[in-house]
Amino acid sequence: MSFRDLSVYQIYPKSFRDSTGSGVGDLRGVIEKVDYIASLGVGMVWFNPFFVSPQVDNGYDVADYYAIDPAMGTMDDFTELVAALKQRGIGVMLDMVLNHTSTQHVWFQRALAGDPAYQDFYYLRAGRDERLPNNWTSKFGGPAWSPFGDTGLYYLHLFAPEQADLNWHNPAVRREMAAVVDFWRRLGVTGFRFDVINLIGKPFDLPSAPAGVDDRAMYTDGDLVVPFLKELQAASYGLDADAVTVGEMSSTTLERCIEYSRADGGPLSMVFNFHHLKVDYAGGQKWTKAPFDFAALKGLLMGWAEGMAAGNGWNALFWNNHDQPRAVDRFGDAAGHREASATMLATVIHLLRGTPYVYMGEEIGMTDPAYTSIDDYVDVEARNAYDALLAAGHDAADAFAIVHAKARDNARTPMQWTPGPNAGFTTGTPWLAPTNQDTINVAAEEHGGVILPYYRRLIALRKELPVIAEGDVQAYAHDHDRVLGYTRSLGENRLLVLANFYGEDATLDLPPEFASARVLIGNHPDPRISEGRITLRPYEAQSLLLTDGSKEI
Ligand code: GLC
Repeated sequence: MSFRDLSVYQIYPKSFRDSTGSGVGDLRGVIEKVDYIASLGVGMVWFNPFFVSPQVDNGYDVADYYAIDPAMGTMDDFTELVAALKQRGIGVMLDMVLNHTSTQHVWFQRALAGDPAYQDFYYLRAGRDERLPNNWTSKFGGPAWSPFGDTGLYYLHLFAPEQADLNWHNPAVRREMAAVVDFWRRLGVTGFRFDVINLIGKPFDLPSAPAGVDDRAMYTDGDLVVPFLKELQAASYGLDADAVTVGEMSSTTLERCIEYSRADGGPLSMVFNFHHLKVDYAGGQKWTKAPFDFAALKGLLMGWAEGMAAGNGWNALFWNNHDQPRAVDRFGDAAGHREASATMLATVIHLLRGTPYVYMGEEIGMTDPAYTSIDDYVDVEARNAYDALLAAGHDAADAFAIVHAKARDNARTPMQWTPGPNAGFTTGTPWLAPTNQDTINVAAEEHGGVILPYYRRLIALRKELPVIAEGDVQAYAHDHDRVLGYTRSLGENRLLVLANFYGEDATLDLPPEFASARVLIGNHPDPRISEGRITLRPYEAQSLLLTDGSKEI
């Protein structure tokens, strides 16, 4: 499968559709909705992990890579789901959490029981005189080390203490991981999303970060990531010439991402990076509240688009996922201009060079939930952050406001199918409550809504127009203080995309050759173009197409 004209839909199974009334989404719930998924026009669905897990980190703490969490279904359900999607021309992408396992995994349990072979699956280290083995911190707060039973040793966990980092230096670990990927490949899985995969190449001696150096620099993007991935590729997903792979790259660089995804020999089809989603972090810290920095956003989005094109790498394009608050709340005006904001943001991503990912609910303009108490949140990261903010001296209202804006649960609320109690997600009590399903839901979007049809059109256009799928990319009007712009070009075909990120009009000059171009797609039916200039209304996006005349669409 070529991934250049592909769009991917992301499903968080726990929150998509519950077929049993348990309050937790499941695979049969997804089967009920395959026609809806097919109606979007996407070529692949990425499922967040549904493997057996104690759910400390919602499935990213895998206890058995070969079995489905009974709360979410059975292997038969999975086979049926793969077949139902395949019948509609849609591939399945699974989430492979290969950097760490749950501490409930049998490997960790055997290690705890004293089996040296399994102790070598993890990073076990002695403390340094009364201190931890090194100064690394967990991404979920606190130190990255916890005591390993009563051995006096510690084990490394870059995430929760229940997520033990795997020692990829051990060839047995690498063989096990290839076997996991190969198992799912043989069941018809054609896509793999590799969780925090640029953390697998840690230096074996796990050095402390020197004073003034961020500890992430010590273990991210290590030189071993590419060789480890190439080995995995040769033994598993590489056996299918058309497998689609995407690596989640934590705190990465453009140079590394080109290496990971370059068309001539990179081990992955494409990469996620998160730099453009950190432009509303004050002082680089997530648990803060700040308006987004538009110039930085443009610099990052366009710098990565152009840079990856120059290096022959490939970006996964996205505004939303299960770890991010809803983009409409962050970069748009969810209260005053929700539809325009949602469609403007979609235009920017879907016409750019790369592969767009749509996170469930994004296509109907879902927003962050209107929670009022910390008790409404479930996520370990949000709850830890709230406590840490209080401990750092924030008052309760302030700490809550920050969590409200930044929590991952913002994205994890149930898919809103219908108005009314529980949003058509479950007949039971949802594990995380929806709040605004009476105004935002699929049923309303299907009958006269504007966001869902707009997404469908954007996804279709990528398949129809090679300039979108294949064209080169260049920033346009890069210094404009309200508009993000770029051009795409392939031979004689050129596309100009303009998006106003603000609640006021924005005027700019068109490139002269586009003065007579026709509108390809825009979120207002009546673009205001005159005398070589265009004026975009609040959150308006427009795209203009120049063709060589050989292909009319
Ligand atoms: C990734 C996942 C996130 C998870 C973390 C640890 O960032 O997207 O949800 O908590 O890895 O596995």
